[in-house]
Amino acid sequence: MPDDFTEVRILDNFYQTSSFFPMPVVLVSTISKSGQANLGTYSLCFPHSITGGRDHAMMLISRGTSNTAENIIRAKVCALNFIPDKRKYLKNCVVLGYPGETTEQKMKNSIFTLLPSTRSEAEGAHPYPPIVKEAFQVFECTWDDRYPLKHTDELVECHFLLHIDKIIMKKKWRDCLFKGKGFPRMPIDYGYRDNVRFWFAEHSRPYAVPIPKDKGNAVETVKYACTHFDPDITWEDEACAMLVKVPNIFLNKALGGIVAEAKNAGITVITPEFMAKIRDKRSGGR
Ligand SMILES: Cc1cc2nc3c(=O)[nH]c(=O)nc-3n(C[C@H](O)[C@H](O)[C@H](O)COP(=O)(O)O)c2cc1C
Repeated sequence: MPDDFTEVRILDNFYQTSSFFPMPVVLVSTISKSGQANLGTYSLCFPHSITGGRDHAMMLISRGTSNTAENIIRAKVCALNFIPDKRKYLKNCVVLGYPGETTEQKMKNSIFTLLPSTRSEAEGAHPYPPIVKEAFQVFECTWDDRYPLKHTDELVECHFLLHIDKIIMKKKWRDCLFKGKGFPRMPIDYGYRDNVRFWFAEHSRPYAVPIPKDKGNAVETVKYACTHFDPDITWEDEACAMLVKVPNIFLNKALGGIVAEAKNAGITVITPEFMAKIRDKRSGGR
């Protein structure tokens, strides 16, 4: 029956040869040996270290002989430019994803506009690669070479643990991120599938699925709401924990009040002490 499970042989590049696996499309900018900017197309690029405060990192998997791999190994720095879903951009990503060309050869065919990095140059270090103007967001990264590039000598692929130095985003999308509404149009790459073509998909309008009502507000949910409420204000975990009893529907209103009080007081970090002060002030005024 067509709906029964059947086994599929696991081949090399199983994510595109033996399965359906959705991936992002990222142009990795690096600087070549001669000093020219290089753009390489990559989809095997995922969040790797996500908590712990400082060591946020991405994992990029590249064949070891790519311009990108050679440039990261030499200069350690790169930028991950997330490309929006426009056919002419994706066509050019495929052109820039053709293996075997030098930076000089391939960059003649790039339609993308390069802007200077937003990182400030450290003296004596390699120059930071430019960023792509058409991207909706960019992760500016430095390779953490403590993580093994290859687990075995036979591997032809390199695993780059890329420490995220900076995330920059078009202002419009940053506003959407903090309001919790609205998404850029991102392409979904299904890879090189039939030995002839890359396959991409457009996504339809994202939809929200609320958590079950009887679950209440977990501390993680409150922390998420706090840290995404206002980009200029940071929250200590204990301060967030003091809000777990606030019903979900009132949480944003409560956060708005607290953030307004913090801004009035010229405070950028909300501590449990500050929360207690507000609580005392409010109960005193009642
Ligand atoms: C949409 C797309 C996604 C790709 N993803 C990867 C990838 O994740 N890893 C990889 O090694 N090659 C990937 N490639 C192939 C590289 O783009 C290709 O090796 C190219 O030569 C890399 O450019 P560079 O040599 O300038 O780094 C992809 C190609 C396309 C078109």
